[in-house]
Amino acid sequence: MPLKIKELHPIFGAEVTGVDLASEMDGSVFSEIRDAFETHSVLVFRDQEVTDDQQIAFSERFGPLERMLMGSQGAGTPIAYLTNVDRETGELIEPDDKRMIRNACNMLWHSDSSFKRVPALGSILSGREVPDDGGETEYASMRAAYDTLSEAMKRKIDGLVAEHSFDYSRSLVDPTLLDDAQRGEVPPVPQRLVVQNPMNGRKALYVGSHASHIVGMPVDEGRALIRELLDHATQDKFVYRHRWRQNGIVMWDNRAVVHRGRPWDFRAGRRVMHRTTLAGALPTVEQPVEAYQSA
Ligand code: OGA
Ligand code: MN
Repeated sequence: MPLKIKELHPIFGAEVTGVDLASEMDGSVFSEIRDAFETHSVLVFRDQEVTDDQQIAFSERFGPLERMLMGSQGAGTPIAYLTNVDRETGELIEPDDKRMIRNACNMLWHSDSSFKRVPALGSILSGREVPDDGGETEYASMRAAYDTLSEAMKRKIDGLVAEHSFDYSRSLVDPTLLDDAQRGEVPPVPQRLVVQNPMNGRKALYVGSHASHIVGMPVDEGRALIRELLDHATQDKFVYRHRWRQNGIVMWDNRAVVHRGRPWDFRAGRRVMHRTTLAGALPTVEQPVEAYQSA
């Protein structure tokens, strides 16, 4: 079966058919997928029944994988479990359980690992069990968002740096979610507000739930600017809403899109998603972290 790439949305996203991600693929097939990832930002694959090892093997073709943070489901391993099902008992997790609060954090628009000095390149999410209704994942094109800013706004933000903090984004949902060790694992980091893809030169806005404030700007003013940019970026016309089917896989470019999970009836419907995260290669700012003190 030849590899086919079909656009899914007027501005970004494509569905890829004619490949089995569970088996080893030729270098030429892989490089078509790699190119499509750079071009389309979101790639959808249907009917991909994969084990964790197979998902990891495909993911590692892109480079090293991130390991999950302390306190998350899958801590210390390359698999993030985003699920309302207890992995030991197979029962639904109670709504007030910390694991469900962590799941709720994913419902804020974000880019994975933007709270790390070297943020993630991409993420690969596999829908192992999906609810009939709700539980979609939405993606917004940060390239389209950047391209449609006014020239004055582009000039204003082109050189700006935001401080991203995992503690900040978690505190928006529950200030008691992290303990001191978990906070210490991921101290705040600087990230440019605008990033540029080194392969094709496309610029993208780079903000999301982890972006706390703007370096060198009063906190309130910076937060208002981040909110304005994120509201602009997540207008309906820039959003692709992915409705999951069992054994679907979606892969996205964290440098080019933000994403969020949508609610579902988690007291009734099982949702089991396994994610691998492709590590990035470079920080978005070249200077040492110490150069960016909190405003
Ligand atoms: C993720 C994520 C949202 C969802 O996998 O990184 O944010 O819909 N997922 O599960
Ligand atoms: Mn995410």
